[in-house]
Amino acid sequence: MRARPRHRFRRLGLPLLLVLTGAAFVGARLAAPPRDAGAPPRDPGAPPGTSGDVRAGIGAAALEAPPLTGEEIRRILSLGPLPDVPPPDPTNRVADDPRAATLGHRLFFERALSQTGTVSCAFCHDPSMAFTDGVAVAAGIGGLDRHTPTVQNVAWHRWFFWDGRADTLWGQALDPLEDPLEHGFDRISVLRVVRDDPVLRGNYEEVFGPLPDLDRPGIPRAARPKRPKPAGDHRDPRVIAWDAMAADDRREISAAYANIGKALAAYQRRLRSGESPFDRFARALRDGDAAGLSALSPAARRGLALFIGDAGCRNCHSGVLLSDSEFHSTGVPPLGGGPLRDPGRFRGVERLRAGEFTASGPFSDDPDGPRAALSRGVVHDPSLWGAFRTPSLRGVAGTAPYMHEGQFETLREVLRHYNTLEGAVLPSHHQETVLRPLHLTDDRLEDLIAFLESLTGEPPPAAWREAPDPE
Ligand code: HEC
Ligand code: HEC
Repeated sequence: MRARPRHRFRRLGLPLLLVLTGAAFVGARLAAPPRDAGAPPRDPGAPPGTSGDVRAGIGAAALEAPPLTGEEIRRILSLGPLPDVPPPDPTNRVADDPRAATLGHRLFFERALSQTGTVSCAFCHDPSMAFTDGVAVAAGIGGLDRHTPTVQNVAWHRWFFWDGRADTLWGQALDPLEDPLEHGFDRISVLRVVRDDPVLRGNYEEVFGPLPDLDRPGIPRAARPKRPKPAGDHRDPRVIAWDAMAADDRREISAAYANIGKALAAYQRRLRSGESPFDRFARALRDGDAAGLSALSPAARRGLALFIGDAGCRNCHSGVLLSDSEFHSTGVPPLGGGPLRDPGRFRGVERLRAGEFTASGPFSDDPDGPRAALSRGVVHDPSLWGAFRTPSLRGVAGTAPYMHEGQFETLREVLRHYNTLEGAVLPSHHQETVLRPLHLTDDRLEDLIAFLESLTGEPPPAAWREAPDPE
């Protein structure tokens, strides 16, 4: 039942067998009923089957889409399905601790964690809008100059922010809390809010042990280190108070503040999106389930072939997030026109190196691990000026507008850009060689859009999308 009889193989001959070597999984279960999501993974030792069945299956399911080659199958399976759990994060010892996720869930929705009492993480990363805000550039206490990305599936990323200035998910979370334009808060005030709320305090101490004593002499009411922006930040009373603190006190406060980030990260690691039509297609392909291949329409199938083939999208949108998590210039003109203003990754590297809450830093739980080593090796190069991290395309149909300043309202506008590169503004040190106008016909562009739309599926579990119980 599991393996096809050997003779069918011989009949197909060597060339087809070669095509299949990249796809040794296919066919082994073609005769088996489609697996449900909870079924155990296929026995990796099962012998390969025949391409004849797969081709027949694809033909029946999607007559208007050409059959797949072994290389195409290999490429598709590098994009999906999305694994059930994200890669481990040893820099955060509570990354997968459910109690930390519960605390993080509360913190994510907590408006008290802001200078005005009005801004929570969910204020901009709104679960009812796929954890985005639907506007071009974000606004918290003040207006920002970048677009809010989703936090769905964020745990799969290597770098965080459009410029990758954070190399851990927990370190990322500590930036908006102290950004004068976002939460406008400071780390001591954050800890005071947690201390004064019995539920938050109980959650915190269960996971991390006692909070620092915030009433002892030497601990100001509010304090944080100076930030790169705004220009006069060194005159903020909270910065002056921070600079006056003893080094040991600062360290103890920052360690507790890092725990806040680690709890927020534990929560966000749970925000895995559910299965999309593309995932169902990839799973069917992986498991040799010919009927399941109908999860993608013929148009989406053609779009997928373009995406992994001639359109070159996969050069940057690779891996299970459809992002290489690296930095590129795509020539998108700045919002409102004019020359490029945002240095992107160039400044991101500087800020990463100056960062306090990094994988290699004093508050990391794995300062000598692979994540830390990779960050230490990061180069600072003029070619990074104006480069931004490739966004994930999972759920992209629900996260308009697009690009780092929300320059494009629709997927059609994004594709028009790639198709013509009209009006593209490239940085002077530009070295990107893979971008060229695609000159695709409207029909082909519609196919690409159908594929992009197939990347949106179920949202993360409802329990994590809703505001937590007050308790
Ligand atoms: C004022 C709106 C706003 C608030 C409040 C806010 N964010 Fe964000 N978030 C953004 C914007 C804008 C970016 C991108 C900024 C950049 O790249 O410079 C971002 C980026 C991120 C990222 C990186 C995503 C990626 O793909 O790299 C994560 C994770 C994140 N925020 C989580 C949080 C958490 C956790 C909080 C609460 C502590 C929070 N955000 C509060 C707007 C906001
Ligand atoms: C050279 C690398 C590269 C290539 C090739 C590439 N992209 Fe992108 N893509 C990016 C980067 C970087 C961004 C973000 C650019 C910015 O914000 O300025 C992006 C943004 C996008 C977005 C917007 C996502 C969002 O959430 O804002 C979509 C959609 C997209 N690309 C689709 C495609 C498609 C389809 C192709 C093939 C036709 C493609 N890309 C080719 C690197 C690339």
